[in-house]
Amino acid sequence: MKIGILGTGHIGKTLARKLSAAGHDVKVANSRGPETIEADVLAFGARAVSTAQAVEDVDAVILSIPLNRIPTIAPLIANLPAETVVIDTSNYYPHRDDKIDA
Ligand SMILES: NC(=O)c1ccc[n+]([C@@H]2O[C@H](COP(=O)([O-])OP(=O)(O)OC[C@H]3O[C@@H](n4cnc5c(N)ncnc54)[C@H](OP(=O)(O)O)[C@@H]3O)[C@@H](O)[C@H]2O)c1
Repeated sequence: MKIGILGTGHIGKTLARKLSAAGHDVKVANSRGPETIEADVLAFGARAVSTAQAVEDVDAVILSIPLNRIPTIAPLIANLPAETVVIDTSNYYPHRDDKIDA
């Protein structure tokens, strides 16, 4: 599968390594640009790209960013084709993500 991963922290990095090692075509992006992505994230063939490039022409998008950052990438997700699968690993930590009204 062609997979785009947003976030290269604990979860995104693990998914990028495992999914590319399993033979998937993986692109990864963080918030600071592809040149800041560490080599070990790319060790099994994943490619470092911009956030816009990560969600372009993929079968699935994986969000692995803090919940309170989701609004910053929401426009990219809103413009995905209807058939693109979106997988969100995030969960809500009030001490990290600020207060979100019910
Ligand atoms: N850690 C766990 O055990 C665990 C388990 C289950 C679920 N989760 C959830 O999964 C999510 C990710 O957790 P994590 O531990 O992997 O987080 P993390 O280590 O803090 O990494 C967060 C990543 O998100 C990137 N990011 C932030 N804003 C972005 C944006 N606008 N566009 C692209 N990338 C962006 C960061 O890039 P920069 O560094 O460049 O900003 C960083 O690579 C969280 O919601 C967390 O609650 C975590």
